[in-house]
Amino acid sequence: MRRIVVTSALPYANGDIHLGHLVEYIQTDFWVRFQKLRGNECVYICADDTHGTPVMIRARKEGISPEELIARSHATHLKDFSDFQIAFDNYYSTNSPENREFSEKIYLAAEKQGYITKKTTPQLYCDKCRMFLPDRFVKGTCPKCGAAGQYGDSCDRCGATYGAEELGSPVCTTCGATPAAKDSEHLYFELEPQRDYLEKWIPGHTTSDVSNKLLEWFKEPLRGWCISRDAPYFGFEIPGYRDKFFYVWVDAPIGYIASLKNWCDRNGKGDLWNDPGVELYHFIGKDIIRFHCLFWPGMLRAAGLKGPDKVFVHGFLTVNGEKMSKSKGTFVNARTYLENLPPEALRYYYAAKLGGTVDDMDLNLDDFVQRVNSDLVGKITNIASRSAQMLQKKLGGMLGRLDAEGAELLATIREASEKIAGFYEERRFNMAIVEICRCADLANAYFDRKEPWKLVKSDPEAARVALTAAMNAFRAIAVYLAPVLPAYAQKAAKLFGESGWTWSSAGVAVEGAALGDYEYLASRIDKKQVDAMIAAATVKPADSGEVAHESRASKNKAKASVPAKGTIPFADFEKIDLRVGTVESCEAVPKSSKLLKFVLDAGPLGKRTIFSGIREAYPEPEKLVGREVVFVANLEPRKMSVGVSEGMILFAGEPGSNGGVLLPSSAAGGGTQVT
Ligand code: MSP
Ligand code: ZN
Repeated sequence: MRRIVVTSALPYANGDIHLGHLVEYIQTDFWVRFQKLRGNECVYICADDTHGTPVMIRARKEGISPEELIARSHATHLKDFSDFQIAFDNYYSTNSPENREFSEKIYLAAEKQGYITKKTTPQLYCDKCRMFLPDRFVKGTCPKCGAAGQYGDSCDRCGATYGAEELGSPVCTTCGATPAAKDSEHLYFELEPQRDYLEKWIPGHTTSDVSNKLLEWFKEPLRGWCISRDAPYFGFEIPGYRDKFFYVWVDAPIGYIASLKNWCDRNGKGDLWNDPGVELYHFIGKDIIRFHCLFWPGMLRAAGLKGPDKVFVHGFLTVNGEKMSKSKGTFVNARTYLENLPPEALRYYYAAKLGGTVDDMDLNLDDFVQRVNSDLVGKITNIASRSAQMLQKKLGGMLGRLDAEGAELLATIREASEKIAGFYEERRFNMAIVEICRCADLANAYFDRKEPWKLVKSDPEAARVALTAAMNAFRAIAVYLAPVLPAYAQKAAKLFGESGWTWSSAGVAVEGAALGDYEYLASRIDKKQVDAMIAAATVKPADSGEVAHESRASKNKAKASVPAKGTIPFADFEKIDLRVGTVESCEAVPKSSKLLKFVLDAGPLGKRTIFSGIREAYPEPEKLVGREVVFVANLEPRKMSVGVSEGMILFAGEPGSNGGVLLPSSAAGGGTQVT
């Protein structure tokens, strides 16, 4: 058994999680889940990256403390991640006591090694904001090409890099005032003393495409890295200085150690970070290579700490072949996606596209709909939905035995097991999906050849044998898909009466067992859902010019044109069993200002008691007796303090209003199905 610690980069606390971020967290989650399924001990560590100027400024604007702001982000981020089925073992914060302690220790160790130097340099200072301005908080004209409106670090038009104090006509992006250069003393972490070490370290710890780029910097002396920021700053103060803080990128990666330590302490584990028997991997995007493959190994070595075994770098997300854009509605937040589409669809699509390289990855929205529908639903899920439903409806829901042909089909699918595992291990998720689809093709061909829908009439037991093979083929495929689609795999396992799987579960067959109820595993998605998502994410040009992040108000405005909760696929709607019932009695629930208790005569379904929070709209509930109402008959019964509610009566009204109207119903007979 391997022991592994895995990290994803720590997302900034001052922004929402979007589909670009998810490229990283979803693929790390695939890999971690794969390791766990294989029986390895694997800990997935992350945290919010909470420090820095943007958090401070935003909290100021909102009139709250930075601590309040980061607490709010932490909750929102975690909810977004868990709704995408991303399962961290610890999701911590860089603003933690552990992180302060490690940051100070590592800094002091580097100082002791003589790697810290001091330099006084001019930096732009805004008198009105009373702060030194970070590069991204100043705009002006490019000193090389003269383009206006460029940030303080580089020019969008000519690509030149420069210092903010070189900008022409600089303005503070926070308040619009003109900043002026002012001297300040800063601390630098020198890399040159570790040149030889780093030059050797890089090729062994990342892929060649990444390391070749990095090594270009070694043609010149390595520049020292400025690690201090002046007050006011939200962060950790540097030991031995007043009003000087660690630059956010100092304590951010140290946050990996701190989050792991926090997890170890709570789980009775020792120092996993420095344990030579533990493998350590970082997943990061290509924009932050320099921090992880240069500064970070330098800092760790200075402090005598172990470093990562490998840094896995991925590319950036494009949507329909272009950079994500707020005005085009392709800068989609995790939540906006979830309000319109199921998480499985994105997880599946990302898996189908990610090849473990630093190349950018395109989310082509038409291809997305097409692939999810044709492969995940049409090819893979259909095996189970057709077979399970036929077994359930016509054959008493019992699996039979495998015959020679069925055993052969399964053997072929099992042969793919180690190949697929190899692809997961190498993070070639796209190749794993290709193999999985190949297995599904075999299962479908078998199904079509056997024609169980005909056999079930002429020779039911032969049909059972064929369906047993198809179901077992599906089962193995669902095991292979478990790292990508964990909730799906969980439901699939339940169908076979199993509580969960490991990778080796694909190697055994389930015969002669009773199937559980068939739950919907995945449903088709519709281009309309994608359109609604894009509409909800579209920010009008006037709003998108905002410096850091668009305001809540602008987001809500854009959303008004689509239903508040987004559309649902027809297949989801179909799951609802709508019936007509006659109100036999209706009374106010004592001590409740909201609830009415209905007893419905639902014909063949018998009597139903339903509590409904509609009292305000019906001051005389007894008048409802005798009326026919439409109700949801298959809603999970809900235990309330006043009794069990066995369904839901449908009312119509303005969203958010407590009132409602019963639609007049002319349908005959209780319990009639409404379609
Ligand atoms: N806070 C730093 C990381 C500190 S790690 C010690 C940061 N945060 S971030 O929120 O900007 O990005 C978090 C991760 O998401 C990074 O690895 C980044 O590369 C990745 N992505 C952010 N936008 C992305 C895309 N559009 N596409 C793919 N990955 C992207 O950087
Ligand atoms: Zn200012």
